[in-house]
Amino acid sequence: MSEQTTAKPVIFSGIQPSGSITLGNYIGAIRNFTLLEKDYDCLFCVVDLHALTIRRVPADLRRQTLELAALYIACGLDPKKNIIFCQSHVPEHAELAWILNCFTYMGELSRMTQFKDKAARHQENVNAGLFTYPTLMAADILLYQTDLVPVGADQKQHLELSRDIAERFNSLYSGSFVVPEPYIPKTTAKVLSLSDPTRKMSKSEAEESYIALLDSPEDMRRKIRRAVTDSDAEIRYDPENKPGVTNLLNILSALTGQGVDALCADLEGQGYGVLKERTADAVIEHIRPIRAEFDRLIQDKTYLNETLAENAARAQAIARRTLRKVYKKVGLYQL
Ligand code: TYM
Repeated sequence: MSEQTTAKPVIFSGIQPSGSITLGNYIGAIRNFTLLEKDYDCLFCVVDLHALTIRRVPADLRRQTLELAALYIACGLDPKKNIIFCQSHVPEHAELAWILNCFTYMGELSRMTQFKDKAARHQENVNAGLFTYPTLMAADILLYQTDLVPVGADQKQHLELSRDIAERFNSLYSGSFVVPEPYIPKTTAKVLSLSDPTRKMSKSEAEESYIALLDSPEDMRRKIRRAVTDSDAEIRYDPENKPGVTNLLNILSALTGQGVDALCADLEGQGYGVLKERTADAVIEHIRPIRAEFDRLIQDKTYLNETLAENAARAQAIARRTLRKVYKKVGLYQL
């Protein structure tokens, strides 16, 4: 990404280094990053500050931060072409978040379904960071004058708030931010839980319900074999009535590039066992080279640290420009 004049539109997206990175994160986010990267100037962030909104064991957070950076690269995202960095290494994120907090209403934040869910799940720790999480996310995006934000469907509401904040800010101080567009392709928007296909696949649910990218092939196959389907035994794409089967078809389609109609035609008359084996094969074969590259990279801490430092500097050069402009616009006295 060139820091001087950016010819291509800008993509920003982030993933929290909290727990395992799931097949949902991969299909809903990372895989789309790899498909979009050549047409955009991309920033892919390990959003470690966001991860602090839930209590973490410090050593785990540190390890998972480096693992996620390695995973981005192992998935094929080149850190020379893209900017792959850690949120806390660019303090402008937290600085802009404060400013945006002053332009975001309590009512807006209270309506965020993710806040309501997480507050219900972590009643002992409903902290202010959890509440203002979306303004930090808006800061992430707006700092880089982002055009497009590829995410899963669960982030749609946060994206809409980011747009509202940008528009509000621009109406007071014109030309401050590019108003970002979400990129949420329908078939990859929501990978569902294997044990309860009415819910999204999530790293905060029971282990059997999700595939982690770093699971062994045996675990991946076992979990897919046990995936909840239904009792009518017909392989048909029907999100409403057959969420489990539809979920497997979506996973298979995303990883093989075959359309779901072609897959259904291909699998017609077969049992769910065959669908599950085909899905397990596709997942295992797709993830195998990523896992091998990850295993290699994670041994090379020097390379990862140098890469993260260089990339944070590239990100900061852009972020600083936006922050300086914003400070000036709102009237902060600059030296
Ligand atoms: P996070 O870490 O929960 O998830 C990372 C990305 O994975 C997508 N995702 C899914 N997609 C499809 N099916 C699923 N089951 C599934 N589970 C997760 C998420 O939609 C997301 O795209 N707040 C964000 C991180 C963030 C961010 C940003 C994203 C912080 N700042 C700025 C974009 C731009 C989050 O918690 O994602």
